[in-house]
Amino acid sequence: MSKQNQISRRLVLVPCPYEGHLNPMLQLGTVLHSKGFSITIAHTIYNSPNPHNLPDFSFLPFPDGLSDHDLASSDVVAHILTINDNCKKTFERRIEQLMEEKRLQGEIISCIISDELMSFAEDAANNLKLPSIILRTTSAATTFARCRLVTIKEEGGIPFPFQGPFSHDLVPGLHPLRFKDLPFSPSPDFERFVRLIAIAYNKRTSSAIIWNTMTCLEQSTLDQVQQQSEVPVFPIGPIYKMAAANICSGLIKDDRSCLSWLDKQPHNSVIYVSSLGSLASIGEREVSEIASGLANSEQRFLWVIRPDSIRSSHWIELLPKGFQDVVGDKGCIVRWAPQREVLAHPAVGGFWSHCGWNSTLESITEGVPMICKPWFSDQRVNARYVSHVWRVGLELEELEREEIERVVRRLMLDDEGKEMRERAKELKEKIEVSTREGGSSCNYLDELINFIMLI
Ligand code: UDX
Repeated sequence: MSKQNQISRRLVLVPCPYEGHLNPMLQLGTVLHSKGFSITIAHTIYNSPNPHNLPDFSFLPFPDGLSDHDLASSDVVAHILTINDNCKKTFERRIEQLMEEKRLQGEIISCIISDELMSFAEDAANNLKLPSIILRTTSAATTFARCRLVTIKEEGGIPFPFQGPFSHDLVPGLHPLRFKDLPFSPSPDFERFVRLIAIAYNKRTSSAIIWNTMTCLEQSTLDQVQQQSEVPVFPIGPIYKMAAANICSGLIKDDRSCLSWLDKQPHNSVIYVSSLGSLASIGEREVSEIASGLANSEQRFLWVIRPDSIRSSHWIELLPKGFQDVVGDKGCIVRWAPQREVLAHPAVGGFWSHCGWNSTLESITEGVPMICKPWFSDQRVNARYVSHVWRVGLELEELEREEIERVVRRLMLDDEGKEMRERAKELKEKIEVSTREGGSSCNYLDELINFIMLI
């Protein structure tokens, strides 16, 4: 981009206010900033990103209308619908003011890039005659699975939720997904989920779609997406690898002391356990099964226990008595880890994950094989792809101590685990090629930049 363009073009990025959505949007911001654009992050008051982590960006908070009553519920789907209902007008006014302010400073706003779940931003862009682009933060396979889930429900042939023997049957047209792998929402209200799907996937007016995935992982699904899409699709993932700096939302402070603990452990000897991600929670029985399974496996582990993720406790009060004495310095527990650095550490030989899309991408990108225990939504689809398409992970079916011990040992000690580690390394190399100059994600990024310059 020429010098003149560098100072004159600004992009407004609108993330959905959850860790798994904020991170890729902020990472996209650093990628686009490195290409010469000025970046404004327009964000809800709820879960505001920490501006100190992101000195190159401007921030534009807008009221989200979420009440204490709304936030007392853990129903994320309901929160997102409320944000969409509440924000359109205020957001539009803020952007209008920003446009005027920037115009006086000789800058133009080129477009609004919004998370697929923040559709009010696209409506506002339309009213303001600004182009808009969608960022998709889940896999391409998830898109088809979500839409199929809604049609299966509408056809009414199959009782929800899918339980019993037929839940292991393959869903026609969605190989290798079984009914139990469909991306059920954590929300108890299916109608809300259908509204959310409509927000994300109904015919949109945006000029393009940016996707945090890549052709070397999802070639055939992306081919289908491209055929069906009326606008260009830019799969530029893994976006964090395309970014010059290691960016994160700062919603939870990470504990970097675990990196020096990892420095003292042998190569490939540690299983990194972050089995809940940023949203899921468990009870005392489950935490006791995990703790016992890990201890009995006799493997070294680094375990992330997010504050308040064990119900009825603040942090690790409900761990079995004496657990830390039993494992001694073979185990390290932290509230939140610098995950991408942990996965890139040579001591880490496996990742027990809930299979959120970011965690899945990060594990594959760093060449670490996985144990998959999804909880809800797209995590189920990702887990199935990890274990049955890319074959770099084992599924943990039951959260029982014997099963956990067995699966951890299979991954960390058995030949099966070594083969997965080999395949994970091969995938890592493919992703490295794709993010280098001339590689697929890199080429799509160049095309995206040219596209934005022309809209
Ligand atoms: C949510 C949904 O659960 C998921 O299905 C969807 O794909 C995205 O939103 P989340 O639980 O946030 O996902 O998981 P994930 O997508 O994996 O994102 C978690 C992010 O937090 C990752 O970028 C990971 O690196 C980061 N993280 C996690 C840390 O930095 N430290 C930790 O200790 C744990």
